[in-house]
Amino acid sequence: MAAAHLPRIPVFVFPLLVFLGVHVPPSHGSPAPAPLPLTSYDPSICLETKCGGIDIRYPFYRSSATRETPDYKSNYSCGYTDLEISCQGEWPIRTPVIQLGGDNYTVLDIIYENHTIILADSDVLGVAKCPAVRHNMSFDDMWLYNASSNDNLTFFFGCNHTSGGLGMYQINCVGFNSPFGSGPSFVFTPDVQAPEHDLVCNKTVSVPVIKSELLTLVASNLDTFTSGGYGDVLKKGFELVWNYTDRDQCYQQCEQSHGQCAYSSSREFLGCLCNDGKSLWKSN
Ligand SMILES: *[C@@H]1O[C@H](CO)[C@@H](O)[C@H](O)[C@H]1NC(C)=O
Ligand SMILES: *[C@@H]1O[C@H](CO)[C@@H](O)[C@H](O)[C@H]1NC(C)=O
Ligand SMILES: *[C@@H]1O[C@H](CO)[C@@H](O)[C@H](O)[C@H]1NC(C)=O
Ligand SMILES: *[C@@H]1O[C@H](CO)[C@@H](O)[C@H](O)[C@H]1NC(C)=O
Ligand SMILES: *[C@@H]1O[C@H](CO)[C@@H](O)[C@H](O)[C@H]1NC(C)=O
Ligand SMILES: *[C@@H]1O[C@H](CO)[C@@H](O)[C@H](O)[C@H]1NC(C)=O
Ligand SMILES: *[C@@H]1O[C@H](CO)[C@@H](O)[C@H](O)[C@H]1NC(C)=O
Ligand SMILES: *[C@@H]1O[C@H](CO)[C@@H](O)[C@H](O)[C@H]1NC(C)=O
Ligand SMILES: *[C@@H]1O[C@H](CO)[C@@H](O)[C@H](O)[C@H]1NC(C)=O
Repeated sequence: MAAAHLPRIPVFVFPLLVFLGVHVPPSHGSPAPAPLPLTSYDPSICLETKCGGIDIRYPFYRSSATRETPDYKSNYSCGYTDLEISCQGEWPIRTPVIQLGGDNYTVLDIIYENHTIILADSDVLGVAKCPAVRHNMSFDDMWLYNASSNDNLTFFFGCNHTSGGLGMYQINCVGFNSPFGSGPSFVFTPDVQAPEHDLVCNKTVSVPVIKSELLTLVASNLDTFTSGGYGDVLKKGFELVWNYTDRDQCYQQCEQSHGQCAYSSSREFLGCLCNDGKSLWKSN
């Protein structure tokens, strides 16, 4: 039955080829778009790895897993440029670290199911008790977004304490050292009006923390909070979420068909790494 249909196919195909042939003007020699070069790549750069107990896989990638593009013009990653994780320290104590806005954050967890990454300021984790934050959090929101589960904790460092009512917010953690100026320092939860005019301070810093961790601790005891509990909240970190980017062809040309996007270190979508070990590079 099926064989009976075979001779018909060329009957339909042949006129189509003739039609195309007639309409290509040979005199112009106008080149068809260059075919995308199909090259093999080292599939190990897309493999899941572990660092400090954290699974690292696409769209995250290890800083050691970048390669040069076939034309040697740039390096590429199997993952989104900003989601580079470096595995620091010596075995067996290895720590996954990501840089955001030039600062180091330790990766506490990556939950691939709901696209959530939990990070903590590496400065804070390096201190046993009474840590101090030295910088605001800033990051480019090309791939990562602030999660609604966060809340701000605001620090005022090195203040001239002028008003009486704020004593309960003063950090009285034994061993605490203000990183900015030598006067007393304060920590405020988001429900407290920022008392800018009552305090003259050397520096303010606002950092995200997980709202539920904050509520549990502050509700129990403000005194516990200012005498060290705030540090426990900082060490629990905060959440950021990532999602597919539609600013380039990554999703449409690659992820939708189960490929993984190759990005340059300057955040340019370069091509698609297919799971058969072949890659398609974007033509220009
Ligand atoms: C690619 O990365 C290597 C090693 O980090 C570096 O030496 C080289 O200059 C990079 N190449 C380009 C084109 O950026
Ligand atoms: C981040 O960590 C790297 C590697 O340990 C270090 O070289 C760099 O100075 C750190 N950056 C900051 C801002 O602390
Ligand atoms: C993602 O899931 C984890 C664990 O189920 C949960 O703790 C976290 O709040 C979720 N994050 C977001 C942004 O939904
Ligand atoms: C943090 O941000 C606040 C408000 O934008 C700014 O006044 C403060 O100087 C920043 N702190 C640091 C350490 O840069
Ligand atoms: C992150 O989102 C929370 C909750 O919506 C908000 O309170 C906080 O200010 C946001 N942080 C930044 C840095 O935008
Ligand atoms: C503010 O802090 C900086 C850095 O610690 C310090 O050099 C400066 O003297 C301080 N200024 C005041 C007014 O305390
Ligand atoms: C606090 O007061 C002292 C003494 O009056 C002054 O030298 C210092 O600059 C003040 N600090 C700030 C942050 O204004
Ligand atoms: C939280 O702090 C960030 C700076 O780290 C700031 O951009 C944001 O507006 C703050 N959010 C609130 C609700 O104050
Ligand atoms: C990614 O998620 C964030 C936060 O939920 C949202 O603001 C943003 O528009 C989303 N981006 C895309 C490209 O879907």
